[in-house]
Amino acid sequence: MSTEFHLSPDTVAATAARPERVQGAPVNPPVTLSSTYVSMGAPDGSMLYARWDTESWHPAERLIARLEGSPLPALLHASGMAAVANALHLAPAGSPVVVPRHAYHASLLLARDRARREGGEVREVDIADTEAVVEALTSEGAEAGMVWIESPTNPMLEIADVPAIVEAAHAVGALVGVDNTFATPLGQRPLEWGADIVVHSATKYLSGHSDVVLGAVVTSREDLREALREERTESGGVAGPFEAWLLLRGMRTLALRMERIWANAAELAARLAAHPLVAEVCHPSLPSHAQHERAARLMDCFGGVVTVRPVGGVAAAEDLGRHTRIWLPATSLGGVESSFERRRRFPSEAPTVPEDLLRVSVGIEDVEDLWRDLDAALRAVHA
Ligand SMILES: Cc1ncc(COP(=O)(O)O)c(C=O)c1O
Repeated sequence: MSTEFHLSPDTVAATAARPERVQGAPVNPPVTLSSTYVSMGAPDGSMLYARWDTESWHPAERLIARLEGSPLPALLHASGMAAVANALHLAPAGSPVVVPRHAYHASLLLARDRARREGGEVREVDIADTEAVVEALTSEGAEAGMVWIESPTNPMLEIADVPAIVEAAHAVGALVGVDNTFATPLGQRPLEWGADIVVHSATKYLSGHSDVVLGAVVTSREDLREALREERTESGGVAGPFEAWLLLRGMRTLALRMERIWANAAELAARLAAHPLVAEVCHPSLPSHAQHERAARLMDCFGGVVTVRPVGGVAAAEDLGRHTRIWLPATSLGGVESSFERRRRFPSEAPTVPEDLLRVSVGIEDVEDLWRDLDAALRAVHA
């Protein structure tokens, strides 16, 4: 007789979604490389075709659902953006969508494109300003169809009061989608606050090694999951079996990686805040962060992304990558390796993001090595 007891998410990440424990079974799931399955007659729920479903997705889908607190398996997608697109698709055609003005730039572009095509409206708000969000949800008689949340936002690291926004959105019948890429399910679980949909760019922390591009959507609502599953099948933005396996492998060490990443990020943010060649540092762990208290109250982490504005402006920000030996100048985030980039190098980044802002993704390296490398590079820029 087995004894049921509550497992910590760290244990779930390492142990859940393994093959059945029977004599001779592998401890890791196999990768099934088959686009089609033997089948005859009317579909009976068994496997048919790998764009519709394949067993190679299931372990990662079950593990993400367990960590996010959903009884229904997540749905893997070909990329984070495929997942975002599918989730935004749930907003009724023509309905306004409320989005953070500093959401990931491609998500914003997508929301604006949808509005142009379908006639809805995009209401861009400061997602940390709950009153402004509520106002946007209810304004001008046209109640919003969906509110989209990033918390922390990419790249400005604003923290939303997600439970308060969920309550206000549901009061007017709007759906709530949360892009949980930055916090990971170990840092916050929006479904537990009543959010309807959670999305991940699994390319980032979930995979954790900068070697796959993948996305995931998870919801506890059967009707929404069915709509998402249908849209994924029809639009075809599905994950490859190898990528799904790499995601699962990466997630086995999620807890260890995040523990180190969060500790490194908070330590570096505190040191950078006192650095003479740094004009501004932002990280939710810092008491100077506008929503520090809110982050401490709502989240189990302060995140692994820090933003830095070096003394010397754009020229210094651009030059820094030439002087680091460990830190990589590269886009993306969430890998084991530390990296940074000047976000405004992309013309589509929001104009309210400072020109010289570096988005810094802190990795798992030794914090003293990271500090020495960054400190030396900041000094070399001004030498
Ligand atoms: C917060 C956030 N959401 C979504 C995405 C898109 O994910 P992907 O690049 O896997 O399509 C990104 C990518 O940087 C992101 O940072």
